[in-house]
Amino acid sequence: MNATSPGQTFTVRTATRTDMPAIVGIYNWAINQTFATIDAEPLSAEEATEWWDEHARRGTYTLVAVEEGDVIGWARLMPWKQQGYQVVEDHVYVDPLYQRRGVGRELLARLIEAAHSSGYRTIVASVAADNVAGLRLHERLGFEVVGTLRNAAHKFNRWMDITLVQRSLDA
Ligand SMILES: CC(C)(COP(=O)(O)OP(=O)(O)OC[C@H]1O[C@@H](n2cnc3c(N)ncnc32)[C@H](O)[C@@H]1OP(=O)(O)O)[C@@H](O)C(=O)NCCC(=O)NCCS
Repeated sequence: MNATSPGQTFTVRTATRTDMPAIVGIYNWAINQTFATIDAEPLSAEEATEWWDEHARRGTYTLVAVEEGDVIGWARLMPWKQQGYQVVEDHVYVDPLYQRRGVGRELLARLIEAAHSSGYRTIVASVAADNVAGLRLHERLGFEVVGTLRNAAHKFNRWMDITLVQRSLDA
């Protein structure tokens, strides 16, 4: 997958193993600096490899946004909970230097498209309740808030509420 809209300076394509260090670099930024993920410890090189291999085994669909050869964001579609649920969950991370330029929107739009063409009817995301950027991004792409889990995780000495958002993929 590789495409560009008019005026867009980045391309989006399927991720490969060689993208892993850049993907993990962006993820470790989010772990260390934000409440976007409940993970609190950055992934070591070894853990990053295991993390990548585990997702590859599960057939997770991962995209990267690339500008001038650099990975500036990534997004992932994965099964929600155990087998049996016909639901996929998205994750979107954009390098802080490249935010507010439509990268997150493009990545999420591609995941929605992929989920739809794979026959899923529902896509969800778990977003920290005070993650305005994450909630706004999903809202803009048609997600609605389903509900909020209170005190669902504990990070950096505070409890986090997690909001579940959902988008229907019906025709
Ligand atoms: C959330 C995130 C992916 C957005 O990526 P981005 O490339 O900056 O977003 P875009 O430029 O495509 O903007 C998409 C929409 O979100 C809104 N948005 C993005 N950042 C925002 C912010 N900080 N505050 C308010 N709205 C924001 C944009 O305004 C836009 O809506 P609009 O159409 O009304 O203008 C990025 O901030 C990020 O990586 N955050 C850390 C990880 C995270 O929170 N992921 C989401 C949960 S999995």
